[in-house]
Amino acid sequence: MNRSSPSAPPPALSPPPGCPAHSLSPSPDSVDSLGSLDSLDTDLLPLSAATSAYQPREVYRQLRERYGNVARVELEPGVPAWLVMGYRELLTITRQEQVFSRDARNWRDLNEGVVPPHSGLLPMMAWRANVIGADGPEHRRLRQPLDDGVARIDQRKARLQVEALCAELIEEFSQRGRADLVNDYATIVPMLSIASLFGLDSAEGQELLRALIALFGSADDSQDGNRHFEEILSDTLRTRQETPTDDLTTAFINHPNLESDAERLQSMVVMISAGNETVTAWISHTLRLMLTDPRFAARMHGGRLGVDDALDEALWRDPPMNNMPARYALRDTELGGRHIRRGDVLILGIAAANDDPAIRPDDTAGEPGNRAHLAFSAGPHVCPAQVPARLITRTAVNTAFHLLPDMRLAIPTSQLAWRPSPWTRVPVSLPVEFSASGALAPGPR
Ligand code: HEM
Repeated sequence: MNRSSPSAPPPALSPPPGCPAHSLSPSPDSVDSLGSLDSLDTDLLPLSAATSAYQPREVYRQLRERYGNVARVELEPGVPAWLVMGYRELLTITRQEQVFSRDARNWRDLNEGVVPPHSGLLPMMAWRANVIGADGPEHRRLRQPLDDGVARIDQRKARLQVEALCAELIEEFSQRGRADLVNDYATIVPMLSIASLFGLDSAEGQELLRALIALFGSADDSQDGNRHFEEILSDTLRTRQETPTDDLTTAFINHPNLESDAERLQSMVVMISAGNETVTAWISHTLRLMLTDPRFAARMHGGRLGVDDALDEALWRDPPMNNMPARYALRDTELGGRHIRRGDVLILGIAAANDDPAIRPDDTAGEPGNRAHLAFSAGPHVCPAQVPARLITRTAVNTAFHLLPDMRLAIPTSQLAWRPSPWTRVPVSLPVEFSASGALAPGPR
């Protein structure tokens, strides 16, 4: 069965040389229906190898053939995890928080020292006192201000702000006749846009972006990055306490559920850090599809695929969080034929679940209006910011194609590579060329 999307490049699919998918020889006989996470598998797939593979769908397909819907993988050397690749199983772990907690303090391998104290996994996975690490009533208390704040966003005003900053960024490179749409555009637009929802101006947004890059960059300046990131947001909080306005910072200050400035600050931190890389990935994928997939581009330009349907097709085919950490089993249970032990870690295999043959036997990702993908997850922790994320991505894609109508990819598609990460799938770069005169002044759309 050909399970590639109707508008996807021809089915692949031999992985490129060096791709770990080569070592995943299908061996259905090896499926150990009740194997445990700490079974002595010697050849677990490192999760980042799937995310950065040339054809991740093929890697997940082979994993599924080998293990079924719940696969054993490695997060970093010596740290195993379950990768939940079944659509139904993913709904189960996101909806049943009594069994599958979001609180990393339940992670056995972390508590027993299997995960080293300086592990690169901890910036994403360590427990923090915020909405992401909470379950049950405590989660609902911290979550409500986010939902209420997002519902109050003035979408027209936000769109005009995002449009203006996209045009400003394009103006900076439009005379060069070439640009890298990931590093000159898709990496910058989300932070400046989200910062503006909190009332920060463009210079403060750029500063936040630099601090965030330091925070997730080298170990040396990551503490400084963290401190600076929080300082900028604390200053904003103080300013808004004196001069309230209609932004998200003010909405958090006024929300009765947030009991201290520390909680308000944490709410700002999670919104800004959760939204940045994900929107970068969504903008990059959509631009990449338009530049590399003639059917996708023709359907958009020809009006047969509305922009929102195109954005959803990108979410089906390449969800920004290919894999999302995590849930922690609160008791022994069974999932997809696997014996899950209390304290095991489960990763949301969003890209694989979107491709589950049980829900997509005929590969309907491109079907207009189909939003049943799991790019935003499900259950109580489902992404609260789907509306602003879509607004920013739609505006960024529209503005780029409106202002640079003749842009084309400057390298062969086969040379595109992905940033190494077990979680997100963002191209390292997206070099494009266009005629310098092709850059139009922004106008009404
Ligand atoms: C392409 C855009 C985005 C994608 C694909 C995305 C994806 C996700 C996913 C998969 C989760 C659920 C995690 C889970 O079930 O454990 C999530 C949660 C979250 N997202 Fe997004 N997100 C996006 C944009 C944003 C933006 C723009 C913001 C903020 C401005 C944001 C803020 C959050 C927050 C705060 C949570 C945690 C919610 C909770 O734990 O209750 N996201 N997102």
